[in-house]
Amino acid sequence: MNEKQAKLTLGETEISLPVHEGSIGPDVIDITNLYKETHCFTYDPGFTSTGACSSEITYIDGDEGTLLYRGYPIEQLADQGDFLESCYLLLYGELPTFAQKENFVHRITYHTMIHEQMMRFFSGFRRDAHPMAVMVGTVGALSAFYHDSLDIADPHQRMVASLRMIAKMPTIAAMAFKYSIGQPFVYPRNDLDYAANFLHMCFAVPCEEYKVNPVLARAMDRIFILHADHEQNASTSTVRLAGSSGANPFACIAAGIACLWGPAHGGANEAALNMLHEIGSVDRIPEYIKRAKDKNDPFRLMGFGHRVYKNYDPRARIMQKTTHEVLGELGIKDDPLLEVAMELERIALSDEYFVDKKLYPNIDFYSGITLRALGFPTTMFTVLFALARTVGWIAQWKEMVEDPSQKIGRPRQLYTGAPKRDYVSISQRR
Ligand code: SDX
Repeated sequence: MNEKQAKLTLGETEISLPVHEGSIGPDVIDITNLYKETHCFTYDPGFTSTGACSSEITYIDGDEGTLLYRGYPIEQLADQGDFLESCYLLLYGELPTFAQKENFVHRITYHTMIHEQMMRFFSGFRRDAHPMAVMVGTVGALSAFYHDSLDIADPHQRMVASLRMIAKMPTIAAMAFKYSIGQPFVYPRNDLDYAANFLHMCFAVPCEEYKVNPVLARAMDRIFILHADHEQNASTSTVRLAGSSGANPFACIAAGIACLWGPAHGGANEAALNMLHEIGSVDRIPEYIKRAKDKNDPFRLMGFGHRVYKNYDPRARIMQKTTHEVLGELGIKDDPLLEVAMELERIALSDEYFVDKKLYPNIDFYSGITLRALGFPTTMFTVLFALARTVGWIAQWKEMVEDPSQKIGRPRQLYTGAPKRDYVSISQRR
């Protein structure tokens, strides 16, 4: 069947561009030969209309508020599955059989320890360093230790590096937390599942036994599932671009962590909770709604709006449900921040500014309230996002490295600087 074509007329020139169809979602206009045929670049700062790659991993329909991991709706995975099962699905494309899952969980469990000498990295940081700074530095340093899984051309080494990243992120994240509060590190335990092990490493102390609350562990596991992958978001695109040069996976993940830290991206969960704290009470909401709508005020409602979702972020709905579960289990009634959050959402969703611009709560709007209730300080919120997103970064990196058509990413530009001019000696400059 002849492939669809798009016609482009540029002055006297008319060219035909192939149109590729996906399995679902928008078609793409292939501009690979545009520059060669027209000596023009396309121009799309922020990549609002640009597909950077083809991928089989995650699909988002922003208008419908749909999110699929390898075709499975996030609601079903969050409700019926667990995080390591979703990790297997994202990495290998299918839900694991019982035996495959058992083997995968075993391999992850036995990679959770980090090289003992890595502990020295932590002592080089100030105790009040932001844990994301510690994560960027420590994860990047993994490439100084695991020389046997840096050769990205070797499928076995790619697989080992992938498992190591997924397995070690909770250990490193828990160590960053313990270091920031001056408590001793707690080693991973092989008798605990992934989320329970993480909570144990964060909240256990040597002085007494720490029993992980299964309801909270289940909530933590579900929060990891919600954050696991999200198509070609800024940090995933960073990981892909870093990986396209052949950089090792640990360095690529460190680049992803750095990008995720920004308040417009993964840093929004920390910023959203700080915003709710700043608003403080329901009666102050109108003042902040007014500021969010004021073009001259840089203030934005953190946890609101999304580049792709022009409907409710499906993850936000599940997160809100999880918030109520966690607060209920902990016996926290009438959390003032939750009251402010729910009233802020109610007002914003009935305000024409937000309705017209299709601004809805995103995953970061409720996550902070839940994570704070679980016992994490706001500075740890984006660390938890990075922990969960590591599998998405790794799966997308693996897909990019294994794509035979892959080449180094190298965008061009619209140059608006000075035309060519000759050097002027300093004695001639006025
Ligand atoms: C994540 O990409 C992903 O998938 C990311 C993520 C993932 O899982 O990887 O989903 C995780 O990063 C979620 C988003 C978290 N960020 C925030 O909550 C920060 C607050 N939100 C905004 O900064 C903003 O909505 C973005 C960054 C999320 C999206 O920005 P866009 O797509 O570039 O949209 P825009 O900035 O052009 O905004 C469109 C309009 C603008 O008004 P106009 O200039 O058209 O008049 O909406 C306004 C904006 O001023 N607007 C907001 C707003 N977000 C957008 N106004 C008030 N409050 C907001 N939060």
